[in-house]
Order: sequence, then C-alpha cells, then structure tokens
Amino acid sequence: MKAPAVGAEVFGTSVDVVSRYVAILGTRGIECGLLGPREGERLWERHVLNSAVLATMVPQGVSVVDVGSGAGLPGIPLAILRPDLRIVLLEPLLRRYTFLVDVVGELGLADRVSVVRGRAEDLDDRFDVVVARAVAPLDRLVGWTKDLFGPDGCLLALKGGSAHDEVEQARPKLKKLGLVAEVHEASAAPGLEPTTVVRVSRG
Ligand SMILES: C[S@@+](CC[C@H](N)C(=O)[O-])C[C@H]1O[C@@H](n2cnc3c(N)ncnc32)[C@H](O)[C@@H]1O
Repeated sequence: MKAPAVGAEVFGTSVDVVSRYVAILGTRGIECGLLGPREGERLWERHVLNSAVLATMVPQGVSVVDVGSGAGLPGIPLAILRPDLRIVLLEPLLRRYTFLVDVVGELGLADRVSVVRGRAEDLDDRFDVVVARAVAPLDRLVGWTKDLFGPDGCLLALKGGSAHDEVEQARPKLKKLGLVAEVHEASAAPGLEPTTVVRVSRG
C-alpha cells in the first residue's frame, strides 16, 4: 500500500521503513490474526498515525515500554519516528512475541528496540514512559503499570471516546495510588483527526 501524503509528511525520511511495516501488518499481521481482516484498509489512519501521536508527547532520549504491544502498536511507529528512544515491546502471547521479534529485525530496529515476553504486572523494571493502546480499561492498566514508571515518569494511554469515562471510573484507584490523570487531544499532523491520550503521573 502506497503511503498517503500525510504519512510521508509525518514520517519524513523514515516513510519507507514505516511503509514496510504497514505492508507486513496488511499481510502477515492479518494472516496471523494480530489484526482483524477489515483493518487492511485503515492501517495508516487508524493504527500507524494514531500511534504516531505519542511522538509529540514523549520527552527526548528516554526509555519507553509499550505494554501489550500486540502487532507493535504503538511502539513500532514510535520507534521509527523517534530514534532517540530506547523502547521495549512487552507482549505475553508467544505468537505475538515471535511476530514482534521478526518485525523488529526486518525493519532494522533491533539496536534500540527489544522485545520482552511477559505481563506488565510481572515485569520488574523501571522506564521513563509507559505507553499502551487497547490493552485494558484505565483502572486496570494503572494497577498493572504503576510500578513501571518512576516519580518523574508517566503512563501515556491511547484511548478513544471513552477516555473521560475511564478516568472517572479510575478515580478512586488513582487517588489510592497517589496518581493524577489528565486527558489530552493530539494529532500527528495538522488536519488529522485528534487522538485522545490519557497521561497518568505522580502529579
Ligand atoms: C487488543 S490487543 C492490542 C495490541 C496493540 N497494543 C494494538 O493497539 O493493536 C491487547 C494486547 O495486550 C496484551 N496483554 C493483555 N494483558 C496484558 C498484560 N497484563 N500485560 C501485558 N500485555 C497484556 C495482549 O496479549 C494483546 O496483545
């Protein structure tokens, strides 16, 4: 699939790498059941450009873990856009883990992106930023990820229209854990529909 003009605008000189990733998602990603069969037509807008929004919110040169990375979303588009980051793709399911290892190697990202098989709540590591998309409702997600980011770190959760409701539902848990949530709207490029990102931090 040829990159849309906005894809080239957002990814610049990395558009060839991200186009290869989109081609993999549209073939093996769908064949392996990592994405639904109807996702093939909306890989750019719904998946890649949606993930790319995070590149506008992650500080320079930090460590990032993508919890429940699945087919590599949002971690792989973020890694392609931001070579300054060290990124771990965390995924418990073997088939998805193997897919991620292969794709990271094929896209030439292995020097700064590693793939770990496991669950967020079992990981004994610290990162500057935790990112997640479509993994769990916010109250469960903060429970799983609260120990993965330090006092100056944060969780950036890509959420759809449910963001405000999820923050409300998570309020008692956030309070108990001493966490603060803010809802942001951001776009990867001007003119693109904004994406909702919930930022959770220690305030
Ligand atoms: C619906 S998929 C979303 C995948 C990807 N983030 C995306 O946006 O396309 C949810 C993923 O979270 C993973 N997952 C579920 N529970 C998890 C946990 N406790 N820790 C880490 N990953 C988990 C699943 O294996 C699955 O790959």
